[in-house]
Amino acid sequence: MIDRRSQIVTNDEARRWQREFPGLADTVHLANCSHGPQARRVREALDAYLEGWRERGMDWDAWMGEVDGARRAFARLIGAGPDEVAVSTSASAAVASIASALDAGGPRRRVVTTEAEFPTVGHVWLAHRKYGLEVDWVPVRDGAVELEDYETAIDERTALVSATHVYYQNGFRQDLERIAELAHASGALLLADAYQSLGTCELDVHALDIDLLVSGNLKYLLGLPGIAFIYVKKELVERFEPALTGWFGRVEPFVFDVRTLDYAADARRFETGTPPIIAAVAARAGMEIVQEVGPARIGPRIEELSAHAIERGGALGLEYVGPEDVRRKGATTAFRVPAPHETEVTLKESDIIVSARGDVIRIAPHFFTTIDDIERALEELRRSAGSVRQ
Ligand SMILES: Cc1ncc(COP(=O)(O)O)c(C=O)c1O
Repeated sequence: MIDRRSQIVTNDEARRWQREFPGLADTVHLANCSHGPQARRVREALDAYLEGWRERGMDWDAWMGEVDGARRAFARLIGAGPDEVAVSTSASAAVASIASALDAGGPRRRVVTTEAEFPTVGHVWLAHRKYGLEVDWVPVRDGAVELEDYETAIDERTALVSATHVYYQNGFRQDLERIAELAHASGALLLADAYQSLGTCELDVHALDIDLLVSGNLKYLLGLPGIAFIYVKKELVERFEPALTGWFGRVEPFVFDVRTLDYAADARRFETGTPPIIAAVAARAGMEIVQEVGPARIGPRIEELSAHAIERGGALGLEYVGPEDVRRKGATTAFRVPAPHETEVTLKESDIIVSARGDVIRIAPHFFTTIDDIERALEELRRSAGSVRQ
């Protein structure tokens, strides 16, 4: 299916990939910032898991192998080692695990975070104020977060900078490498939330010098809800002892020693209870597809589709609200419309799936999106946004 000669996913290739997603036969799916469509291979993996459960009843060794397979697939996607990745259950739970490992009573008790975070992340930090953590906000100004505002906020009291890679609302993409430099210059760590970017571009945690990273799988990674991952830089692992813990975070979970709290030597120390096996099965199959297409080839295609959407949307009179430079944005392209939710529902009636958030409609393509899909959605959006009451 892949055009091996091309450094970028081509329009023909996108069209061919649509066959992998039966639902795309009659639907334009542009809500990948919310949930990706169902891939054949993901469905087959899930069916095989359900079949095995029915036939064998209990198959722990194979199931734990599946969870480990998902961990390895995630590690590969972000350029990490499998020992640097823990399995969690949602991005919220993953951030809460990290929060529970910080020293909220020490001299470094400040978390610098941004107004561009998905609210769940801010909520976790705010909830930890009761243990002594302090939260400092970097503002969103004109839809963007400026590096100079990080410089002002980060100081020697900062334990951690918590920054989203891509702003869920308008697609603005942050420069994680620079933010890591700013955090490290003050002795702080960087936690990146890559949920809105992974799968749409290359991301190498070692090259960017990211300390911690979280993401779930149901958007551009084509998986199911119920699983998320935590990356922890190898050199840092042993300094964390999360209070949000459980038997899967132990050195040897199957020793069953209730009186001993020993933390696994690797990132697994961030794990808690029985892992989400069925979601791991889907996550692995989904990430394998993304890996096969190649994030390095998806990134430029997303830029191409973004440029097209911005230009075409402008020509149709739609109000675009994200960064003009496509290199400063992720896959989401946002247009302000009078009644976003009603518009989402109207487009769905025409088999076009987009996602409403706040005062915008988000158009979020993936490697299987064609130029025609974007055209169709924008024209329908213009028609519909013009017809809903203000
Ligand atoms: C950037 C980002 N972070 C976190 C979340 C929430 O993840 P979860 O529901 O797994 O906690 C989302 C969900 O849309 C998101 O876009």
